[in-house]
Amino acid sequence: MTALLEHNADLSSLNTLGLPARAACLARPQTLDALEQVLAERDPNAPVHVIGEGSNLVIQGDLPGLTIALGIDGMAKVKQDEQSVWVAAGAGVHWDDLVAWTVEQGWQGLENLSLIPGTVGAAPYQNIGAYGVELAQVLEQVTVMDIATGTVSHFPAEQCEFAYRDSRFKGRDKGRYIITGIELRLNRQARCNISYGPLAQHFADKPAQAVTAAAVREQVIAIRQSKLPDPAVLANAGSFFKNPVVSAEKADALKAAFPQLVAYPQESGTKLAAGWLIEAAGWKGKRLGPVAMHSEQALVLVNHGGAIPEDVMALAAAVKRDVWQRFGVELEQEPVVLP
Ligand code: EPU
Repeated sequence: MTALLEHNADLSSLNTLGLPARAACLARPQTLDALEQVLAERDPNAPVHVIGEGSNLVIQGDLPGLTIALGIDGMAKVKQDEQSVWVAAGAGVHWDDLVAWTVEQGWQGLENLSLIPGTVGAAPYQNIGAYGVELAQVLEQVTVMDIATGTVSHFPAEQCEFAYRDSRFKGRDKGRYIITGIELRLNRQARCNISYGPLAQHFADKPAQAVTAAAVREQVIAIRQSKLPDPAVLANAGSFFKNPVVSAEKADALKAAFPQLVAYPQESGTKLAAGWLIEAAGWKGKRLGPVAMHSEQALVLVNHGGAIPEDVMALAAAVKRDVWQRFGVELEQEPVVLP
């Protein structure tokens, strides 16, 4: 089977921030064989870019070389024992379809990660996390194809070097592998994590048996929809900055000066709520040209229409500058920048 290549392809609908860009050559392989073929036939000296649904992406300009939007489909139960069920999914599956399907089966583990935009393949790349849960907690293994050799291998979760919004695939192995699928280990009984404040509050007066994966999913969806803009309605790439981790001393000093500061002590250092810092620096709901920091969640940069990469970079730089000047805290951009 010959995988179809599209030349000079429009990427504006393949990045949820809605930036205008083109790919010199775009492939959408649907199978492992097709992916292998696309890689084998490419110009080995030209760069390879991999995108899912482009929901965590800032495309700064046209992409040279080969761009791959992976379409490998499929979700299936692999095996089960008394406590657990193992589930496999292809990299091209829409993430929330996987969450919805597992929750419908009565399996527990993904419900806090409901409604996160993007594909299954992108999930381990940045170790998606929300409402007290990170993918790393339920991930069994990641299947990858080596771009240089086409070899397929499996990395157990312990070897993926997962950290907050990070993995080896985004770090030291960046550009080396294409994630083609994942395997998860989920619970057959509800052992839901409702530690996130608004979730704990919602379930506080409810009996323990009401805390099902389906009920938690419903709440997570409600919380997300109340704060986070739907990229299909208002273009955005989710959180635009990571929550910065500072030393405990620095956090204490900030807390003394700004008692409202939202801070979470970690094993090492203290994580600060970047949304709070951005709001306190005056940027919540504030527009700069066609882009703005969202009015309900200051951590999300939105494109009201017609933005070019320079608009995004100008707003990001202004927010970073003001947060630095006010708090002496450096914000790090969260979405992946291409090329
Ligand atoms: N806050 C403000 N102003 C704002 C936004 C937030 O003061 O405009 C304060 C809130 O009051 C809250 C705290 O900051 O006390 C934390 O806010 P929230 O619970 O909304 O979460 P977050 O830290 O801003 C992170 C993730 C989100 C994830 C939520 C929920 C990062 C970079 N972002 O945001 O992930 O959905 O927690 O767990 O860690 C994403 O990665 O794209 C994303 C949306």
